[in-house]
Amino acid sequence: MTELVLGIETSCDDTAVALVSRDGQVVASAVASQTEIHNRYGGVYPEVASRAHVDKILPTVRMVLEDSGVRPQDLRAIGVTRGPGLIGSLMVGLDTATGLGQGWGVPVVGVNHLRGHLRSADLEEKRVDYPALILLVSGGHTLLARMSSPGEIKLIGTTKDDSVGEAYDKVARMLGLGYPGGPVIDRMAKTGTPSIPFPRPMLHDGLDFSFSGLKSAVSRYLAANPQTPHEDVAASFVAACLEVLLAKCRTALTDSPAQSLVIVGGVAASPQLRAEAAALCEDLGVELCLPPLKWSTDNGAMIGLATWDYLAAGFTAPLRPQTSLTIEQ
Ligand code: KG4
Ligand code: ZN
Repeated sequence: MTELVLGIETSCDDTAVALVSRDGQVVASAVASQTEIHNRYGGVYPEVASRAHVDKILPTVRMVLEDSGVRPQDLRAIGVTRGPGLIGSLMVGLDTATGLGQGWGVPVVGVNHLRGHLRSADLEEKRVDYPALILLVSGGHTLLARMSSPGEIKLIGTTKDDSVGEAYDKVARMLGLGYPGGPVIDRMAKTGTPSIPFPRPMLHDGLDFSFSGLKSAVSRYLAANPQTPHEDVAASFVAACLEVLLAKCRTALTDSPAQSLVIVGGVAASPQLRAEAAALCEDLGVELCLPPLKWSTDNGAMIGLATWDYLAAGFTAPLRPQTSLTIEQ
């Protein structure tokens, strides 16, 4: 019988659970999204998120187990996100996983959320050729990492302040659009002209990122130029974000060649980012690897696959929330 891990993810506003084999096959997966709830607030409301996780987590675990017919006692392990994330949301996942593990007699492993995202590209089929350069662009994070093999991760760049997804969401709020902002900004940007010269923060300054100055520049511009079509503001903002993201990828790939460029995280859904990354990879002769969108945004399967890396390394992270924002194991 194939050994399976139950992956549980509750770091932000999705209650996600999946069953995953050692080679990344996803036997069952369910995501209870809170997007509609948080849309009212224009962003994720942490206390509301924790409460929704409490309501959703056991029904979601039950659904995945019933769908697959797997007996909980037969699980190899439960892997649960321990951070980075909203502390209340993380606590719900950790407490639930700990209780289930004790009740079922199954080991529980605390998993770093970012390690989950970085491994999401190998779900369902092996897509990544190593060594790989990984760009993670989500609502909570923006980082560049090199992976020499699954689980062997070296962080080479991160944001000094906001993530790129956060900048998309904040600019969407300034333009009176809903949450999450990424998809709406993208749609608007397509019909606008990128004529406003917004700053390209840290463009020629190493592999780290910064997006808070760009966000403030958009806010100042809107206050001073209320008549400018919002489509042009969106197009100019997207152009600034993408120029920075792709310039850093180009530098990293030139400094140390890789077989694949892997882009994961919610912002990887951006069609413009996908198109520009394809052009960059063609230019450099690197394979572009974009996992299906359902594995790009938060899900339980990526946590399940990362759990197998922890098990292979014999590493059991403590079952309390991770308070740092890093990629620690
Ligand atoms: O990975 P994710 O689902 O959750 C986190 O771990 O944060 O990423 C969510 C982020 C949000 O900021 C959202 O605005 C952005 O991904 N996003 C997009 C698109 N779809 C979602 N950004 C740009 N273009 C999109 N099409
Ligand atoms: Zn995430």
